Amino acid sequence: MTPPPESPADTVTEQTVPPTRQATETAESSSGGRVALAFSGGLDTTVCVPLLEEEYGYDEVVGVTVDVGQPAAEFAEARETVDALGVEHHVVSAREAFADRCLRSVQANATYQGYPLGTALARPIIAAAIRDVADAEDCVALAHGCTGKGNDQLRFEAVWRDTNFEVVAPIRELGLTREWENAFAADRGLPVEGGAEGRYSIDANLWSRSIEGSELEDPATIPEDDIYEWTTSPGREPELVELTFEDGVPVAVDGETLDPVALIETVNERAGAHGVGRTDVMEDRMLGLKVRENYEHPAATVLLTAHEALEQLVLTYEERAFKQQVDQQWAHKAYQGLVDTPFVDALEAFLGSTQERVTGTVTVKLEGGGCRPVARESGYAVFSERAASFDESTVGGDITQQDATGVAKYHGFQSRLANEAIEQGREQRQETEDYDG
Ligand code: ARG
Repeated sequence: MTPPPESPADTVTEQTVPPTRQATETAESSSGGRVALAFSGGLDTTVCVPLLEEEYGYDEVVGVTVDVGQPAAEFAEARETVDALGVEHHVVSAREAFADRCLRSVQANATYQGYPLGTALARPIIAAAIRDVADAEDCVALAHGCTGKGNDQLRFEAVWRDTNFEVVAPIRELGLTREWENAFAADRGLPVEGGAEGRYSIDANLWSRSIEGSELEDPATIPEDDIYEWTTSPGREPELVELTFEDGVPVAVDGETLDPVALIETVNERAGAHGVGRTDVMEDRMLGLKVRENYEHPAATVLLTAHEALEQLVLTYEERAFKQQVDQQWAHKAYQGLVDTPFVDALEAFLGSTQERVTGTVTVKLEGGGCRPVARESGYAVFSERAASFDESTVGGDITQQDATGVAKYHGFQSRLANEAIEQGREQRQETEDYDG
């Protein structure tokens, strides 16, 4: 095995040299051949290209970029980088499949600790697309540029370890830091971005944009406004947006039917202009690390808010209460990247049966960075104007207001009995103490 990458002498300080590589099983078994690399054009995956050839001994790297709705500039950047590196590059579109999955996550009101799961929902789709390219392109191995601290390594490998490909993770296996990677890239003249894109680790797709790293890692640091790209808060006039849902899935905006990709893009733009959908959280990662995360996700916030408002109208109390537990379990499995599992199928059976009635429209108000429902309508509304109205003396059928008197008499009856028993016990103890004393 070759030694770990030499530190570029004049750019890397002693501390930034990665620890000596520990020969891993995967690395030992690397037998040349072609390796399909999950390639975004960012720092981690760019650095992986020479490492896979030099450190692992693969003959050829096949870069695969999967389109899950990341900004167009990212593809141009990936293209430029692969051209400079001289590696084969495939771009696979999974936009529709991903948009579909995002909208389905709305059925489960899916968030994990306040984050609508953009990265997490994308990873299994990306991993499967790369596996398929590797199959078609005669690769022997699959590689990703994830670190050994995050969630993505687990999400990728949950899919990849169900194949016969070798699985390699250079950044994790070589114990590399971002600082080391930057110096290595500079030393090798690898094309990497400067500015905010270079400073932070950013993951953007249709559903969310995540910004990590650098000074943001310190939970006490207030982020500069320039970390945000999708959201601004220029003090606009409030705006109303009407969302139409069919079976719990958003299908139209202000009455115009849109396909899933266009719908998400439209709402991202409209809500982003009001600064809607910024999240700054402490997140508990799968490995137990607690990390500070910043996200922007305007469309997700609007669609999740509207969907929940519609469920409030059409589902019964018991359905809503139990569904919260199902939703939470679904979101947790999605966070883990384990959506293709029998458990999730079972959860979805419940979700599916509740969503048949989540059909109707919700109007939300976008205002000063916030989004709140202001009107909802559905043919399945569990709502009787007559029953709830202050202006009607009767409730419905032959039920009158007076009928509630009996209910009111019983209400809390058992607690009254229990309180009485407690009081009696107390008196008895007091009498015994007085007698003994
Ligand atoms: N913490 C989030 C997750 O695990 C987002 C990670 C995004 N990655 C990044 N390099 N910004 O899903």
